[in-house]
Amino acid sequence: MSDFQEWSRTVAGEMERTLESLLPPSSTEPKRLHDAMRYATLGGGKRVRPMLAHGAGLITDAPDDRVKIVSAAVEAIHAYSLAHDDLPCMDDDVLRRGKPTCHVEFDEATALLAGDALQALAFELISSHKLADSPQQQVEMLQIFSRACGSHGMAGGQAIDLANVGRQITLPELEFMHILKTGALIRASVLLGALCGKPLAETDMQHLDHYAKCVGLAFQVVDDILDCESNTEQLGKTAGKDQDANKPTYVSLMGLAPAKRFADELLDDAQKALSGFDNRADRLRQLAEFIVRRQH
Ligand code: IPE
Ligand code: IPE
Ligand code: MG
Ligand code: MG
Ligand code: MG
Repeated sequence: MSDFQEWSRTVAGEMERTLESLLPPSSTEPKRLHDAMRYATLGGGKRVRPMLAHGAGLITDAPDDRVKIVSAAVEAIHAYSLAHDDLPCMDDDVLRRGKPTCHVEFDEATALLAGDALQALAFELISSHKLADSPQQQVEMLQIFSRACGSHGMAGGQAIDLANVGRQITLPELEFMHILKTGALIRASVLLGALCGKPLAETDMQHLDHYAKCVGLAFQVVDDILDCESNTEQLGKTAGKDQDANKPTYVSLMGLAPAKRFADELLDDAQKALSGFDNRADRLRQLAEFIVRRQH
């Protein structure tokens, strides 16, 4: 196993244990809702966003206990976004992380509420743990986080995604949609991980932000490529869904080979953005490579 694989497995394992302890136990009422929240969040997922937060935290010497909370909050939002994304009113998917989707395992109302409650839990985590040296910095973190989740971030991107089913859109429109629906939360993961630690010079922060934007967009470009190129077993979710649902994607707009070249360009840009950092940015460098080269 490579050093990076070992590190990523450790982060993912720790994330599982952290989420396990922060999610409400199934033994407390309302049990079915708590069960669904745990089902949507635990026991699967690549945990890329927590890895990005930890990678960014290494640059600023961020205390591990802070980065864990930020990562758990981001992962709770991500799990909520997937539970809602899979609902019949959105992508209507039956398979997620190799298991029945939340609404198939429970029911639609429970999946909806599990998402709602996971979102609230995420904000509770960010606001009730000490994550920064000054309260002002922590409020700034809350602002970054809320913007990434709302209508100027993930939820907005999802709205644009649904509004564009069956429509021809331009590449800039597609880029805007992807930056919002997937890029925003990934970008927030990097920034919040870094903000748990010592302040960075403004230009370093800008470079880190540019890295985060590039990997956030690349993540969804590769998701589009895998939907077209991979298979259901490997992905743990239904392959070929985008074409079936008539979604505009990088593959449908550009074609497969140009979409892959675009992902490579974004990887290149992401690595260049880190060129001024020393070897403490190596995990972020490896993560960018992983995000673009991944097979699932
Ligand atoms: C899938 O995200 C949804 C997108 C934003 C593209 P991931 O590929 O990170 O899903 P998990 O967490 O690994 O299942
Ligand atoms: C989902 O994008 C982005 C989210 C905010 C959940 P997709 O709809 O492409 O994600 P998958 O392919 O179902 O995981
Ligand atoms: Mg979707
Ligand atoms: Mg989907
Ligand atoms: Mg997809």
